[in-house]
Amino acid sequence: MKPLITFVGLILALTAVPGQAEPIVIKFSHVVAEDTPKGKGALLFKRLVEERLPGQVSVEVYPGSTLYGDANELEALSNNDVQLLAPSLAKFERYSKQLQVFDLPFLFDDLEAVNRFQKRSKGRQLLRSMEKANITGLAYWHNGMKQLSATKPMYLPSDASGLSFRIQPSAVLESQFTQVGASTRKIAFGEVFSALQSGTVQGAENPWSNIYSQKMHSVQPYITETNHGVLDYMLVSNTRFWFSIPHQIRTELEGIIDEVTYEVNRAAEEANQTDRARILKAGTSEIIELNPEQREAWREAMRPVWQQFESVIGEDIIKAAQAVNRKQRN
Ligand code: SIN
Repeated sequence: MKPLITFVGLILALTAVPGQAEPIVIKFSHVVAEDTPKGKGALLFKRLVEERLPGQVSVEVYPGSTLYGDANELEALSNNDVQLLAPSLAKFERYSKQLQVFDLPFLFDDLEAVNRFQKRSKGRQLLRSMEKANITGLAYWHNGMKQLSATKPMYLPSDASGLSFRIQPSAVLESQFTQVGASTRKIAFGEVFSALQSGTVQGAENPWSNIYSQKMHSVQPYITETNHGVLDYMLVSNTRFWFSIPHQIRTELEGIIDEVTYEVNRAAEEANQTDRARILKAGTSEIIELNPEQREAWREAMRPVWQQFESVIGEDIIKAAQAVNRKQRN
């Protein structure tokens, strides 16, 4: 066999077109379904790159934790085994304490406010907060506001007491549930459905699009529409890889990222509302809408988390985030 392999190698080398460089391969791995804001964004990026940089850049998209999951995707990026990721902002805790601002409960009134913060200077600065770790932030992508789901109806914070919730790997989110007397388990996104189905945990928090696409509603009979926090993403690359791309190609890629970001962020809220309607139609879960007093009770109960993390995140960042809400309050 060995002489044959050598012979085939020789033929390939002789038939290679001189001067024709191999395309740059960008592997884009993520943990969600394709029919979600992030999943669609990854596919749109691939399509536009292949249209505009044919033969120069090729994009491979791996959805649904098929290549890497929560546990190893950032390590894979650091080893340049994958070149693009868009983890939820909670998943960068190890690399940037400042990004924890996005997990503070009831900090942003809605996705519009999140959008304003991401566009202002403090938000832009945070894209560069992981440079020491060789991670370059390229853009923020929206998913949406999180809802609380559980095996029992939750109207007031005391209703969550004694339940165990799945959380992302975030001390802020851990503290958020501690404030309402609940316990937490850090579980990778790809395992959340089975953890809920088996009863390992009784509750979770996610935007409608993740709840629907992971079929969480089929094992969570109650979903309280709290909009208590945001689940957004940072599109990131390995810094050394990104800046090794020839300038002209990188500029084209950055232009494509701007276009994709605009489209993902324009469509995210609508996608979440569509999935909310689908959940309602499926009839598996009751959607509990809170009245203003009930929502205020959740806000009050979770508010101490802000003070707890103020020195870690930075008072200036929290203040800048608060300033984007239309309705100002403490
Ligand atoms: C994601 O949307 O990427 C996953 C969020 C989660 O882990 O809950």
